[in-house]
Amino acid sequence: MQDLRTRTAVVTGAASGIGRALAERFVAEGMRVVAADVDVAALDDTVAALTAAGGEAIAVRTDVASADEVAALAERAYEAFGAVHVIVNNAGVALSGRVWEHTLQDWEWILGVNLWGVIHGVRTFVPRMIAGGEPGHVVNIASMAGLTSNPLMGAYNVTKHGVVTLTETLHHDLALFVPALKATVVCPGWVATQINRSGRNRPAALAETQQTSEMADAMARLIADGLPASEVAAQIVDAITHDRFWVLTHPHFMGAVKHRGDEILSATNPTIAPLFARPGE
Ligand SMILES: NC(=O)c1ccc[n+]([C@@H]2O[C@H](COP(=O)([O-])OP(=O)(O)OC[C@H]3O[C@@H](n4cnc5c(N)ncnc54)[C@H](O)[C@@H]3O)[C@@H](O)[C@H]2O)c1
Repeated sequence: MQDLRTRTAVVTGAASGIGRALAERFVAEGMRVVAADVDVAALDDTVAALTAAGGEAIAVRTDVASADEVAALAERAYEAFGAVHVIVNNAGVALSGRVWEHTLQDWEWILGVNLWGVIHGVRTFVPRMIAGGEPGHVVNIASMAGLTSNPLMGAYNVTKHGVVTLTETLHHDLALFVPALKATVVCPGWVATQINRSGRNRPAALAETQQTSEMADAMARLIADGLPASEVAAQIVDAITHDRFWVLTHPHFMGAVKHRGDEILSATNPTIAPLFARPGE
């Protein structure tokens, strides 16, 4: 899709970080934006900023883990703007811990947001986008954690590997049956957002957790020093307008993907790739 002007984008997790930066970038490109999030105060703040910047945007409180709420989001988007051309399944949360220690509620929470959220987004929006008959693009936010299997992030890794393979398969299915629709998967390394404070929006009903603090300080530092979310947003817009599937925002992390691939191909037992290294380290 080369010209984004007057097209409509739906962005989940739009109240913070990558989602907010993307909503801002879409408005700057002349798109209409439907901003969805569970954090109503931050969402309202985002939409006020989008509108103040001259954009056309609405806020729809949505828990992406709920099929019904994602269906209601689509209803609202089509009611407001008549079509959806870009759906960005971005909402995500993170937690860390030894894989056998994650509680059932840890698994339910993170699978609900990070994987079911994307599944609901695809199941709900793609058929309507096909029926609309216009060009369209599905953007799913995975992570480098979808291409590697680093320690102490088991549940997060599971969700992001799921998002990568779901999106690769979506790409193939669309190419075979609906070539007017395209797909992109985004696999960032560290980005300066609030992801290490994901628990702030965790539902009380899924509060029971067991997380390790071993990585907390290092992760907070790496995230604070991460790529600006606006840079990730710029790369996503470029992928939509140039029909690129992979958005790999941290080229210096790709050695970790090769490391894993080489070990698989040589049937070598896994060793930890230096994913947490900064450039030059
Ligand atoms: N920041 C990083 O280093 C990094 C790296 C790789 C991938 N990612 C991915 O980027 C995406 C965006 O995260 P971010 O880094 O901008 O974090 P963030 O915490 O700044 O923003 C995430 C947003 O998602 C919202 N959210 C949480 N649960 C939700 C739910 N159930 N329904 C709807 N919205 C919900 C939050 O309220 C928040 O506004 C996530 O999928 C994350 O896994 C982030």
